[in-house]
Amino acid sequence: MKYENFDELKNACLTCNNCKLCATRTNVVFGVGNENADIMFVGEGPGENEDLQGEPFVGKAGQLLDKYLEVIGLSRKKNIYIANIVKCRPPSNRDPESTEQDACVEWLRCQTRLIKPKIIVCLGRIAAQKLISEDFKVTRQHGEFIKKGNILFMGTYHPAALLRNPDNKPDALSDFQNLRDKIKELNIEI
Ligand code: URA
Repeated sequence: MKYENFDELKNACLTCNNCKLCATRTNVVFGVGNENADIMFVGEGPGENEDLQGEPFVGKAGQLLDKYLEVIGLSRKKNIYIANIVKCRPPSNRDPESTEQDACVEWLRCQTRLIKPKIIVCLGRIAAQKLISEDFKVTRQHGEFIKKGNILFMGTYHPAALLRNPDNKPDALSDFQNLRDKIKELNIEI
């Protein structure tokens, strides 16, 4: 592996110009949380607030995510790590293009190698299709645990999608409760 520790990795990532998103970003949104966490959450890419503040999930969607996390005893300040598939904001909050995802995802893979999480939760279609399977359907497969290598993956609704369509909130809550049960079942200390 190229990077020995998180600081080295982060410093390299902060000057990344692997794709065109570097030209329009304010900040690289590297990730936040406990670098030794057993649970990782992965979103799609920074929005406007994240771009301005340099931290993932700090807007309205992030506030909703923090609420769901709190219900099951998780917190970005304590026991999880949060990152995105792409580290720079796609203009006008469009979906990150597949070339941008491909150019960026190695940063996430390096983060994952250093953190060594036991569970990765994919927030929304973009993350689930990149990390679980390219035909992942959130409406059909949310909440399912899928083992890949040493890591259990689960995909659930993106919090921004829940703000647009609150009818899915009970399903999302039950995914988080399943996550809590899985953490207990595996005796993961949080
Ligand atoms: N949506 C995401 O997917 N990631 C963020 O960091 C913020 C909003």
